[in-house]
Amino acid sequence: MGPVGISGIAYGGDYNPEQWPEHVWVEDVALMREAGVNLVSVGIFAWALLEPTEGTFTFDWLDRVLDLLHGAGIRVDLATPTAAPPAWFAHRHPGSRPVTREGRVLGAGGRQGFCPNSAEYARAAVRITEELGRRYGRHPALALWHVHNEFAGVNAHCYCDTCAAAFRGWLRERHGDLDTLNAAWGTSFWGQRYGSFGQIEPPRVAGTAVNPALQLDYLRFCSDAHLANYQRERDVLRALSPGVPITTNFQIANCKWLDYWKWTTEVDIVANDHYLQAERLDNHIELAMCADLTRSLAGGASWLLMEHSTSAVNWQARNIAKRPRELARNSLAHVARGADGVMFFQWRASAFGAEKFHSAMLPQGGTDTRIWREVTELGANLAALRDLRECPVAADVAMVWDWESWWALELDWRPSIDLAYRERVEAYYEQLWRAHLTVDFVHPEGDLGRYPLVVVPSLYLTTPAAAKNFGGYVDNGGTLLVSYFSGIVDGNDTIHPGAYPGALRDVLGLTIEEFLPLRGGELVQLDGGGLADVWAEDVNLSGAAALRRYADGPAAGGPAVTRHRRGDGQAWYVSTRLSGPPLASVLAEVYRDAGVTPPPGVPDGVELVRRGELTVVINHRADDVTLDLAGTELLTGERSVDGVHVPAGLVRVLR
Ligand code: GAL
Repeated sequence: MGPVGISGIAYGGDYNPEQWPEHVWVEDVALMREAGVNLVSVGIFAWALLEPTEGTFTFDWLDRVLDLLHGAGIRVDLATPTAAPPAWFAHRHPGSRPVTREGRVLGAGGRQGFCPNSAEYARAAVRITEELGRRYGRHPALALWHVHNEFAGVNAHCYCDTCAAAFRGWLRERHGDLDTLNAAWGTSFWGQRYGSFGQIEPPRVAGTAVNPALQLDYLRFCSDAHLANYQRERDVLRALSPGVPITTNFQIANCKWLDYWKWTTEVDIVANDHYLQAERLDNHIELAMCADLTRSLAGGASWLLMEHSTSAVNWQARNIAKRPRELARNSLAHVARGADGVMFFQWRASAFGAEKFHSAMLPQGGTDTRIWREVTELGANLAALRDLRECPVAADVAMVWDWESWWALELDWRPSIDLAYRERVEAYYEQLWRAHLTVDFVHPEGDLGRYPLVVVPSLYLTTPAAAKNFGGYVDNGGTLLVSYFSGIVDGNDTIHPGAYPGALRDVLGLTIEEFLPLRGGELVQLDGGGLADVWAEDVNLSGAAALRRYADGPAAGGPAVTRHRRGDGQAWYVSTRLSGPPLASVLAEVYRDAGVTPPPGVPDGVELVRRGELTVVINHRADDVTLDLAGTELLTGERSVDGVHVPAGLVRVLR
């Protein structure tokens, strides 16, 4: 049995029977069985139906839904409905509505329209959670608890007076006394010194840049407030429903605002929602990155893909439909990278409401549709792939990922508006993906020792502990690759003393005389070929050697790419924005240094991941490929000795 008590890979989606008359439920369950569905998420937005007026509850309909599902052998991921407080709640507690940075009180009629620090909200959320826990905590259909839905989805930051008061309490905890806070925030700058905690306000819109350390602490405070809301409900369920795993659905691709490293130990199994950035032609690379990051948050353990889409979503600028077989490629790419569950938003397409143009497992057109046929085929294939479940994914290299550093890097008044955290992570990830290398993500202070290569994209905020971690890693024989604008400030957004990059000067064996951001559209040439843009630096070597120099531009003649041999290892530095083939050519040298060997003979556009004893091959190309691999294919049963043939757009899983 897997972590949620399912003997194979979990398959299903959000099930919202409250949108349909009861006779449809019977058809739903019959079709779920036909599609191979074994897990559904129920009740996510049902608060107003479960508690129609404050303190009165109507559970009979949910009793019938759970019993029906149980009778059909379909397990239930039961949600607390707290992401959608009922209309009576917002009406009765107007002070609980979120307030924007500009001071606008947000209206009702959507979802997540509550302030994350509202005491009235917390009380109401606990009450409905207790009722659900008491009633269903031991229900035989219950496999998993799904707390809330995508915390911080639309109410990540609230700037109301309740939040201001809570922020002051949080600051006392973090900094202790006012002198420490004033020093940490550098409030002697612009005469911002605080004489009491009561004088501190959230970083509301001001005439000019608000103190960046204050802003950074506010982001931490908000992330913690959402976590506290999760923990509160989790603790209620743990007491009332012992032994049943509890999770919440992360959204690591779309949500910048939660520090999920802090959440991973709070959930019993990591679950993530992923939606393609559909307009991007290479969106399957971003998908792979998010799947690798999710597995890394899970500490390598298996995780659940709690939501994705069978085809188009409804909330992007242009909602591009998935083409035939893309659904299976997307789903199996998540499985290859550690997912033990493939779930969708949602089971049956809605007839009304804001999401009626969103694809579903059962489309508006019913069962005589391509999507339905692909959904049933996927269900059968997942059943055939049950051996993948709980197998560890073999990673080749590591990449550092840090939400706090991301927040800090993208605050206002940085040296260039073109500096962007995810852009750099994705640029490096793309090259690793194209080299068919599997990536684990690690926290900057996490254990690096087992990786031959660690890539550090633009880690602007680098704590002394992280810098020490990187230094020790290199001394012990590791190969570190750092991209520009890393090692600049500490956790309070204060510059590390001395020349840039203060925290990483020693390990990189260089100093930066000056940042030389480029003009919009300006390109610089590196010797030996390759154009770069956005950023350059005036680098002085103090132990490192220059492996590429700037051929022109503001840093002409100076080092652009360097390597510092130190201890038993080496630290590479890329001081400009390289992408595509020029970045690939630097990386090829780094791989040689690190002893990392990309699998030979795999064409570009073919994804190859090893999970346990199985190898998953996904052909994203428009033509067929043959790979030099031997084994038995799990989906077709074919045995191949002299190469495995993977038709265009298909997936093969080899043992
Ligand atoms: C998710 C959300 C779902 C649904 C979906 C549509 O972010 O959790 O409830 O709205 O997006 O893509």
